Amino acid sequence: MPYRTIIEPFRIHTVQAIDLPTAEEREAALERAGFNLFGLRADEVIIDLLTDSGTGAMSSEQWAGMMRGDESYAGSRSFFRFESAVKDLTGFSEVIPTHQGRAAEKILFTVMVSEGDVVPNNTHFDTTRANVEYQGAEALDLVAASEPSEILPFKGNMDIEALRAAIDRVGVDRVPLVMMTVTNNSGGGQPVSMENLRDVRAVCDEYGIPLFLDACRFAENSWFIKLREEGYADRTPKEIAREMFSLADGCTVSAKKDGLVNIGGFLAMNDHETSLQSRNLLILTEGFPTYGGLAGYDLEALAQGLEEVLDEDYLRYRIRSTEYLADKITDAGVPIVQPAGGHAVYIDAKAMLPHIPSHEYPAQALAIELYRNGGVRGVEIGTVMFGRPGADGAPDEPAAMELVRLAIPRRTYTQSHIDYVAEVVIDVAAGASEMSGYRIVEQAPWLRHFTARFEQVASSKT
Ligand code: F0G
Repeated sequence: MPYRTIIEPFRIHTVQAIDLPTAEEREAALERAGFNLFGLRADEVIIDLLTDSGTGAMSSEQWAGMMRGDESYAGSRSFFRFESAVKDLTGFSEVIPTHQGRAAEKILFTVMVSEGDVVPNNTHFDTTRANVEYQGAEALDLVAASEPSEILPFKGNMDIEALRAAIDRVGVDRVPLVMMTVTNNSGGGQPVSMENLRDVRAVCDEYGIPLFLDACRFAENSWFIKLREEGYADRTPKEIAREMFSLADGCTVSAKKDGLVNIGGFLAMNDHETSLQSRNLLILTEGFPTYGGLAGYDLEALAQGLEEVLDEDYLRYRIRSTEYLADKITDAGVPIVQPAGGHAVYIDAKAMLPHIPSHEYPAQALAIELYRNGGVRGVEIGTVMFGRPGADGAPDEPAAMELVRLAIPRRTYTQSHIDYVAEVVIDVAAGASEMSGYRIVEQAPWLRHFTARFEQVASSKT
């Protein structure tokens, strides 16, 4: 096409009204929720960028699939359509549906991970980490170090030498599997290169350790490989995705991201014995192996979604729309993790709010302010989510980064919604020096970010 504007490659077929709560209503909602944005009702939010998970719009073909759904308990036609779509994409011989990603993780880690084990990953997502730790094992993040502002093509990559050193240090018997998260969500939505996957595979082969992908955003990762890695420009996203999966022994997938569905996930692998044990557990927790916690119509929508997500026009629009937000706020001087992630823009709250120390949660303060000013809901990925409460009332041990993630739901918001978000972010950033931090007044022993309650501190000093 001779024109530069990358358009949404779809028309809007069904719409859902957005409420426009007033500033007073937003303030009251914040108070009620204890300044935890997870406690807001969705209709108190104007633009909801809390997550790109399960929040996308399905296509008319997916809705048609919903109508075709076959609701047999055992052996439904919909299951076989789903199974063949996953086999065709991943090449894995054993395909196990689950209701979402963490259910697949829970089953895989229960089968494969024991107390005292160590699971390396580029960066664990929070539920992945929690599921590893729940087994009494250590979740080890080995993403190659980089500065948030540094522009590199594959900042999701694993540090290969660190992986080798970790295996040598703890002993190969204590490393039941290696995971690679594509794209690397907690590390800024950054992609992993095929070369890095190959290198990780080589280390795993050397030690005889299975490699699993946490492949929620496999299509976005494939597109980045096509754009940025030598030798892939002429390959289709599907060919690239297949090559990624071919380097692994299995995967866990939350299909609520690149499956383009509102609920669903799967676990897939080649090892038959592990799959048998997984299916036995599945029956306890999710359901019979041909539906695994999903309705037949969900499996249909997922089979169709796995195909649509690899469409080049879709991926070009998807990655560009995230970059569009990043460009707008970067041009106004807002510090973000560079370059833009696939599914989200991550604002660097540490750089924006240097006067708020980590134990007063600068990213939480920023997330609250974006909601307070413009009704935009993002999510804190910083010391609230990943820090550790200090012993005996000492300040929290800080997380490595203090980020606010603005995750873009797929095929849901238009360019003017995103223009509005950029305006809110830029406006809030202009008042950064006036902002103060928060303290936690109530928290759970794990995954505290979901339910903690906060109180604003009078003023923050470094
Ligand atoms: N792995 C990654 C990399 C994820 O981003 C998520 C979910 C999961 C696993 C778990 O999947 O939610 O279906 O159980 N991420 C969402 C997010 C919640 O907002 O990034 P799930």
